[in-house]
Amino acid sequence: MQYEVLFVSQTGNTEKLAMAIYEAIPDGDKEIQRLTKDIPLDLAETYFIGFWTNRGTCSFEVLDYLSELHGKNIALFGTCGMGHDPAYYERIEKQVSAFIPDDNLYLGTFLCQGKMPMHIRNKYQELLEHGNHDGLARQMLRNFDAALLHPNEEDYALAGKFVEEAMLKIGSYT
Ligand SMILES: Cc1cc2nc3c(=O)[nH]c(=O)nc-3n(C[C@H](O)[C@H](O)[C@H](O)COP(=O)(O)O)c2cc1C
Repeated sequence: MQYEVLFVSQTGNTEKLAMAIYEAIPDGDKEIQRLTKDIPLDLAETYFIGFWTNRGTCSFEVLDYLSELHGKNIALFGTCGMGHDPAYYERIEKQVSAFIPDDNLYLGTFLCQGKMPMHIRNKYQELLEHGNHDGLARQMLRNFDAALLHPNEEDYALAGKFVEEAMLKIGSYT
């Protein structure tokens, strides 16, 4: 296989982004599937590997898989609850990409916001009602509500651009 899209998604956001990534890859020798601990190595020359952000990093199956890849082109993508914070996105990228061995060509990371489960909103609401940290609570509630609209068409379009740039980096854009 030339291109393999692998992803981990709990609530569907990263799965949607993975579909947009897959569709942006030129037609032909490509495949998309969930990344589980049973997925074999050496599936393709170029990987697009997607994750959802869990406490500032991603799940172990992603980190384990990444750390076993050698001689590949590897692009990362993911979703996270936090929006519009380039410094935060950079930290996530660093946390995850650090697991890619040096003998691969790293093609970069695309991140966008993804809606969060309602129980997280309830926590912020409680924080607000208890009167402590209410500035932070309001900010987190605004962020939560903005996240409800993501990933959206604009995110998918940006993901498509990210794929084009990745293709240019590996010199095989057609
Ligand atoms: C247990 C848990 C931990 C999370 N940790 C973070 C985090 O550290 N940073 C962040 O921005 N979003 C965090 N989120 C939000 C998710 O990353 C976000 O909703 C993501 O889009 C979920 O992707 P999925 O639908 O593919 O599972 C967390 C969500 C859960 C449920």
